[in-house]
Amino acid sequence: MQEKAVREIAGLLRKKPRVAVLTGAGISAESGIPTFRGKDGLWKQFRAEDLATPEAFERDPALVWEWYDWRRGIIAGREPNAGHLILARWEDELPGFVLITQNVDGLHRRAGSKNILELHGNIWQVRCLEESTVSDNFESPFPKIPPRCPACGGLLRPNVVWFGEALPRLILEQAQAACMTAELVFVIGTSAYVQPAASLPLVAAEAGAKIVEINPDYTPLSTYADHSFHRKAGEVLVEIDTALRDAD
Ligand code: OAD
Repeated sequence: MQEKAVREIAGLLRKKPRVAVLTGAGISAESGIPTFRGKDGLWKQFRAEDLATPEAFERDPALVWEWYDWRRGIIAGREPNAGHLILARWEDELPGFVLITQNVDGLHRRAGSKNILELHGNIWQVRCLEESTVSDNFESPFPKIPPRCPACGGLLRPNVVWFGEALPRLILEQAQAACMTAELVFVIGTSAYVQPAASLPLVAAEAGAKIVEINPDYTPLSTYADHSFHRKAGEVLVEIDTALRDAD
């Protein structure tokens, strides 16, 4: 199925083009981590207004932390899948490779990716509200909720981007620059509803990049894609990677 497209993309990769990849929750779905939208998505069971906004945290930091602590527990028990691992390998093999993710789960890093533009932050980092310091934190579960800064006792928050908050400026600029100059862009496992991430592939398409989308569902980006694979990310990436290696 779609063997010709797989061969064509492997052929492009063999020329070592500048590649940018935008991932969303769907790439971690095969690791058993819930996505946000879709039938079993988190936003079907929970209200973002209660759990993922600065106002929600101000109102009830313990409630917000309980939800993040629960999600951290799920993620801690899961492993990167074939899709994450292949993207980590491509970073080593393709000089101009840039990985942009909306995911906060840290699975790309655990798979071996090194230069990751995390547009929405990282669930394994905490930020002190008093000192604005950001640090890694892998406690799961937290012994006490809400957790407090060991240095100053200030309230900690997850170092993620909530609804109504701006994305980290430098990271967004780096992602935009990568999309402006990329020759080949993979859009993997995102519903492409949340801005500004969703418009990055359009920036790339306008600048002349070829767009490959991998997502079982159709998205607003599907019509812009040169190749759309409406299947699971891990499966398609394995096929492309195998075709790439077969021809070596
Ligand atoms: P969504 O949950 O909106 O979309 C996940 C996408 O993954 C859907 O389009 C699914 O069809 C697709 N999908 C499911 N299983 C897949 C698989 N095995 N392979 C490939 N694709 C699969 O997640 P995002 O687009 O990442 O933001 O959501 C963007 C942002 O909205 C998140 O970063 C989060 C959320 O609210 C914040 O929390 C700020």
